[in-house]
Amino acid sequence: MALIGPHPQGPILIAWASKTGNTGTLAQRIAELLEKHGLEVELTAVRDVDWDQRGRWSALVFGSPTYGSGDLHPDWDKPERRLRDLDLTGWPSAVFGCGNPRYVTPWWAVDILENRLKNGGAKLLVPSYKADTLTGFRVRDADTWIESLASALLPY
Ligand SMILES: Cc1cc2nc3c(=O)[nH]c(=O)nc-3n(C[C@H](O)[C@H](O)[C@H](O)COP(=O)(O)O)c2cc1C
Repeated sequence: MALIGPHPQGPILIAWASKTGNTGTLAQRIAELLEKHGLEVELTAVRDVDWDQRGRWSALVFGSPTYGSGDLHPDWDKPERRLRDLDLTGWPSAVFGCGNPRYVTPWWAVDILENRLKNGGAKLLVPSYKADTLTGFRVRDADTWIESLASALLPY
């Protein structure tokens, strides 16, 4: 397993999946605000990500809602298995996702992605963002988190 490191001048990959649209909307907002900070972004549905191309990106930002009994969105299943085989040492990264604390497995998908990155050796730049959609979803609630992510990404 060869280490492919981040490309300092490359775009930031935002890989996301969503069923009812919330995590997709959040991914778009993240892209929009990071771009406002002059960061280059590649916003891609996770099912369309070609992991062999990872040497083009400067950082990895992953998003998934939680479904089932604490599961990732199904589009993440294959990529999550693929990521187990990759050495992500030194990769700047972050995770976000929508969930609902009414479930016994709140935001577990976010925890799964966070652990996958950590176990691969990636560097989590900021605490993961867990959007609470119990009482409705307001995408702008994420702006403070996105600003802290932008600040953490700027040196890369
Ligand atoms: C059948 C079903 C199961 C769910 N299971 C969980 C869960 O285990 N944990 C959690 O935090 N949220 C759970 N949720 C809430 C969703 O994660 C939440 O509605 C989220 O906003 C969906 O994101 P999306 O619009 O990006 O698909 C569940 C929702 C449904 C409909």
